[in-house]
Amino acid sequence: MTDTTRINDKISLERQDGIALVRIDNPPVNASGQAVRQGLLEAVDAANADTDVKVIAIYAAGRTFVAGADIREFGKPPKSPALPDVCNQIEASGKPVISVLHGTALGGGLELALATHARVGIKGLRVGLPEILLGLLPGAGGTQRGPRLIGMANTLDIALSGRQVKAEEALSWGLIDRIETGDVREVALAAARDVLAGRLATRRTGELEATRDEAALEAARAMVAKKMARIASAPLCIEAVARATGPLAEGMAFERQCFTEALKTPSGQGMIHAFFAERAVAKIPEAGATPRPVTKIGVIGGGTMGSGIATAALMGGLEVRLIEVADEALERGRATIAKNLDGAVKRGKMSAEKHDAALARLAPSTDMHTLADVDLVIEAVFENMEVKKEIFTKLDAICKPGAVLASNTSYLNIDEIARVTSRPQDVLGLHFFSPAHIMRLLEVVVAEKTAPEVVATGFALGKALRKVAVRAGVCDGFIGNRILAHYGKVIMYMLMDGADPAEIDAALEGFGLAMGPFKVGDLAGLDIGWAERKRRAPLRPAEERYIPIADRICEQGWFGRKTGRGWYLYDDAEIRPNPAAQAIIDAERARAGITPRKFTPEEIVDRFLTAMISESARVVADGIAQRPIDVDAVFLFGYGFPRFRGGPLHHADQIGVAELVARIEAYAKEDAQYWQVPPFLRKLAETGGSFAALNTGD
Ligand code: 3HC
Repeated sequence: MTDTTRINDKISLERQDGIALVRIDNPPVNASGQAVRQGLLEAVDAANADTDVKVIAIYAAGRTFVAGADIREFGKPPKSPALPDVCNQIEASGKPVISVLHGTALGGGLELALATHARVGIKGLRVGLPEILLGLLPGAGGTQRGPRLIGMANTLDIALSGRQVKAEEALSWGLIDRIETGDVREVALAAARDVLAGRLATRRTGELEATRDEAALEAARAMVAKKMARIASAPLCIEAVARATGPLAEGMAFERQCFTEALKTPSGQGMIHAFFAERAVAKIPEAGATPRPVTKIGVIGGGTMGSGIATAALMGGLEVRLIEVADEALERGRATIAKNLDGAVKRGKMSAEKHDAALARLAPSTDMHTLADVDLVIEAVFENMEVKKEIFTKLDAICKPGAVLASNTSYLNIDEIARVTSRPQDVLGLHFFSPAHIMRLLEVVVAEKTAPEVVATGFALGKALRKVAVRAGVCDGFIGNRILAHYGKVIMYMLMDGADPAEIDAALEGFGLAMGPFKVGDLAGLDIGWAERKRRAPLRPAEERYIPIADRICEQGWFGRKTGRGWYLYDDAEIRPNPAAQAIIDAERARAGITPRKFTPEEIVDRFLTAMISESARVVADGIAQRPIDVDAVFLFGYGFPRFRGGPLHHADQIGVAELVARIEAYAKEDAQYWQVPPFLRKLAETGGSFAALNTGD
């Protein structure tokens, strides 16, 4: 006989033949929020109090087991019962409790499972302790029960990498006890019957002994010192794991203390913000529109960008027609794509079979008419409005009705491009970032007439290509490159006034940027910025301070890595500052009558960030970015902004908007044309507001 009780709106308890099935139902990912925790305790208590019940099985409804603590509760006053207490009470249950896991059992979800007396995984399950990716550490016994069950080395591996472990690997470690296939509830019933029949052993993880693994602890400490020095929770995690050989209660108390401390650290707050940024960007006004189906796309241009986009599309399972003007260029594009796909296999992003299938989906051609039946076209030729207009005029004549026509332009006006077609509603910008098959950012640029379902199609394409798509409005440079163009000037001002390229790079890398701006320039090719400066020259206000150093470098034919020299020299294994570039810098300073002065790393970082934040504020005020968090996502996923800082506008709140206004006003004393307080920022400062409040609408 079956009898089901609703404990609360997240937890139900079903009793059948001596088995209590506890079901968690908290969509979308069954996060262990307060109601889940409370309901679990009550359900396990009720099952323990029922003399008919002999075994308890916990499972979850929907697409996944518990994917962790409810991250939205972090930073708010804690609500009891706390997850570690729930875990401890489940472990202490007099009757055996098992868990049946499907989808993902992550963080607090895995910790909950570790507190049950046996774990059954459904095929396809992935488990992990991803707290480190949020700047945290496991806070509900993961650092204590993990070492007891799978040893310190395996626990440190998953807790410091945050990686998701496949069921088979978890089974080989003894993290789960078996793998089954089938419906979760049915598997839970069968596993519970196995417990009753003695076919599935149960034991309390907390009663096992952990063995101290000094080598693993030392290796982890060395790795963290080298690679994760900015993540405050990483050393705390190691020290918590090291305590697992002592009494469980003491280890858990220490872990909790570390977890609470980690929550307050800037790296914890920054990384949690980054987690939400990655997801918040999908919330667009067009979210309700139905995307058009896209299986076949055209890519025009086989250069670095076009090849990268084609690679990303092939990796996303699409058919790709690649168009170039001549056979030779086409072959170069095809070869680049093949090389990119080889790299994806080497990096473990794709299997060898998928590689061959992907390459087989590529159809190179010099005939644009082959685009007649594609669902979407991305034009990725060089930045010239006339050339782009010509291409879009042809596409308008060739492509089937309803095909989405996109430009990958980094700066140019999409409205102007759309106007040459008879279907401006189908035109938008899809701005990828180089290397396009690796960088996760995709700016979806919405022009004046772009139809909602075309915007939705851009976002759906982003998802299929595993990109972080961000909605941007039309302006010179959209979100990212517009802000870059602004702070790029302050970098040049500092260079002219006395800070050398390697000093600026070192200061900004010290702040946490993946790569300093001069190294990035050398990598991307200095000719790109040069062409851009020439395009913008007529738009430059006469009173704007202009630094010609980068132009002088380019005039030498030094375009960075690809020519062996730029700001740095690349003729050795080690890169080193280019003395000839330094001579040009010195000469230009002398020509302008500037006596170079010293910049501290702090001043370099302050000027850089203040410039970046000023223009970011303007981009939000102008509606080019929907919210501050969209700007953060652009810089996190497209410009190597450190995740542990959360993004420029999250960081702006850490500095304080009033302080930023004061800094701009101070800098304005030396250059009032460049340093202007954006009215939006001033208003925020005057009203005691923050960028965070604008994200949530508070
Ligand atoms: N808490 C609150 N909300 C969460 C959440 C969580 N732990 N995990 C996901 N969500 C939300 C997302 O914000 C998103 O909300 P939205 O639709 O409003 O934007 C929604 O759930 C769906 O998430 P995804 O878009 O990421 O869905 P996917 O299917 O692509 O991915 C997932 C599912 C793999 C579970 C992924 O969501 C994920 O990695 N989640 C985070 C897992 C995690 O970090 N867990 C550890 C939390 S910290 C912890 O447990 C502390 C403990 O030790 C005490």
